[in-house]
Amino acid sequence: MKPIFADAAAIENAVKLLRQGRLVAFPTETVYGLGADAANPDAVRRIFQAKGRPTDHPLIVHIASVDSLTDWAQAVPDAALKLAAHFWPGPLALILNKKPDVSPVVTGGQNTVGLRVPDHPVALSLLRAFGGGIAAPSANRFCRISPTQARHVEEELGSAVDLILDGGACQVGVESTIVDLSGTRPKLLRPGYITQFDIEAVLQTELLVVSSQTEPTNPSELRAPGMMAVHYAPITVAMLCPTDRLPEIIQTLNFRNKKVGILAYSLKQAENSLTLLIHMPKQADDYAQALYASLRDLDSLQLDIILVEQPPETAAWRAINDRLGKATSASQ
Ligand code: TXA
Ligand code: MG
Repeated sequence: MKPIFADAAAIENAVKLLRQGRLVAFPTETVYGLGADAANPDAVRRIFQAKGRPTDHPLIVHIASVDSLTDWAQAVPDAALKLAAHFWPGPLALILNKKPDVSPVVTGGQNTVGLRVPDHPVALSLLRAFGGGIAAPSANRFCRISPTQARHVEEELGSAVDLILDGGACQVGVESTIVDLSGTRPKLLRPGYITQFDIEAVLQTELLVVSSQTEPTNPSELRAPGMMAVHYAPITVAMLCPTDRLPEIIQTLNFRNKKVGILAYSLKQAENSLTLLIHMPKQADDYAQALYASLRDLDSLQLDIILVEQPPETAAWRAINDRLGKATSASQ
C-alpha cells in the first residue's frame, strides 16, 4: 500500500474505510498510528493481526477533544481534566477506568482504557470527520521500531493496511508519555516528550514511576508492551557506547573487518570506509525527532553492528534513553 497525501479527499476516503471496519494508518505528532474504529471489535482485532501483537496488549483510543473523554472513561478525575487542559492536543496518553461498554478487545481485557488527543492536523481532521474514537497503536510490527514517516509504515505493514495517510515526518518522534490515573496515585508508565516534571508541576503531586527498563516478572504486570525489555528494536545488533570509548571500540570492530553503523552526536567523522556515521543533533528534541528514522536507515544497510553514543542522562533525554535502552537490550 503506497502512502497517499492526506488531503481532504484522502481523509474522506479514510473515514469511509474506518466505518467499514478497515485499517487506516495516519500521522500523529509522535509516531504514525495504525487506526481502526475503536467501537468495532472486529476492526480492532485486525490491528492485532496486522501487527502480530498479542491480544492482551491494550491500545490507545484517539479522540478529537477532551469532550469525548466521557464516551470512554467511567469517571474522569480532576487530575485528568487538569492534564488534558495543559497538554491536549499533545503527546500525552491517559489511562482511566473504562466505561462498561468499551470493548475488552480494545483494552486487552483491562478495566482501564488509554486515551489521547493527538496534536497533528491530519489526525485531528480525521478524528473530527470520523466522529468516534480511533484505536491506534504505533504502525509497526510488534517489537519493531515505530514509524515516523509514511514510507516506514509501508515498509512495516505493506498490504496489511488499507490506507496510509501521508502527513510528513512526525515532529516529536517518540511515543507519547503515558500517565495512569486509574488508581489512587498517578503513575508514569512510559516517559515521553512531556516529562515527569511537567506533569508533576501541573498535578502538584509526585508521580509513581514505573521503571520501563526491567522486564516484568509477573505477567499480570505486563500492561504496556513498551515495558518489555526488547522493544523498538532494530534487527541489526545495536549497542550503547560511552563517548570516550567510541574511538577504541570502532577501531577494534574495524580491525575484525566488521561493518559498523554509528549514531553519534559528538563524532564529526567516521573513522574509515567500514564505518558509516549518522551525525545526530545535540539537542534532545531534535535528536528524538531523528532517532527512529536514523535507526531504520542504519538497519537497512546489512551492517554487523550499530553503535549508539550514550546520550546525557538528564531529564530532557529520559524518553530517548528509555527507547535506546530497549533498542539495545538484546546486546546487554
Ligand atoms: O504516541 C503514541 O502513543 C502512539 C501514537 C500512534 O498515538 N501510539 C502508541 O501506541 O505508541 P502503542 O500501542 O504502540 O503503545 C501504547 C501503549 C502500550 O504500551 C500499551 O500497553 C499502553 O499504551 N496502554 C494502552 N492502554 C493501556 C491501559 N489500559 N493500561 C495500561 N497501558 C495501556
Ligand atoms: Mg508501539
